Amino acid sequence: IAGVVGWPIRHSLSPLLHGYWLDELKIDGALVPLAIPREGFARTVLALRRAGFTGVNVTMPHKEAAFALADVTDAAAEVAGAANLLIFHADGRIEGRNTDTVGLRESLRENMESLKGKTVVLLGAGGAARGGLLALDALNAGRIHLLNRSPGKAAQLAMALKSAVKSDIQPGALEDWANVAGHADLIVNSTSAGMKGQPPLEVSVAALPEGATVTDAVYVPLETGLLAAARGRGLRAVDGLGMLLYQAVRGFAMWFGHQPEVTPQLRKYIEDDLVTPA
Ligand code: ATR
Repeated sequence: IAGVVGWPIRHSLSPLLHGYWLDELKIDGALVPLAIPREGFARTVLALRRAGFTGVNVTMPHKEAAFALADVTDAAAEVAGAANLLIFHADGRIEGRNTDTVGLRESLRENMESLKGKTVVLLGAGGAARGGLLALDALNAGRIHLLNRSPGKAAQLAMALKSAVKSDIQPGALEDWANVAGHADLIVNSTSAGMKGQPPLEVSVAALPEGATVTDAVYVPLETGLLAAARGRGLRAVDGLGMLLYQAVRGFAMWFGHQPEVTPQLRKYIEDDLVTPA
């Protein structure tokens, strides 16, 4: 038994996703959603370990606390200062990993040709953008324009990751979009703008060159205003569902001992739920 811990947790797709793999691989297991407020996080995780859980996925707002609680962490978690996956080892150690980076990296690998030396505009400067920078660097992006509504946060994030990444990070404000969009091979939205209940992202795809790819970390709705506009212009649009599916693979493999696959059937299964949630 594994868990997914967050606050709120009602909208998490993890139980559905892991449930699909458990059925497909005929594993007698479960992934249980647990709504835990900030102050109850460490106590709950230690209780789950004692109860025999194999580990948990960690979502907002617990990723930093999960990193602090882990006895051992991987390099991605260390750079992010956050863990989204905890594994409870038989000897009592808690291992913390960060697989958010893997989600974007694998989704881009699946959907576009090499990013080597290419120019990317990454929008946002929160936790998702931090993971995004690492993923883009792992794909050998040449230059990353890191634009954020609050430009100070973009500058801070660029400074914090400067020594950890090879890509040339150029921080700026959303207003710089008009100057940089014309050179972009790839746009990544890692802000929460465009998410259901949030205002749309205020950037115009008209400035993008032919052949640019646009991807959005938001997956509710699956087709954000940004992606719809990109498709309308004939640009390649990659939605956020792939990121979600790929980031889950490692956790499943560590907890249940089998490597699951991201298939078109799985995508369709989750997509159907996004469109008509139970
Ligand atoms: P996460 O950890 O998921 O990245 P976060 O740390 O709350 O979440 O970051 C949210 C990001 O979305 C921030 O970069 C935020 O910009 P600010 O730093 O200026 O707050 C960005 N964001 C949220 N709403 C936005 C909007 N309507 N337009 C542009 N950016 C927005």
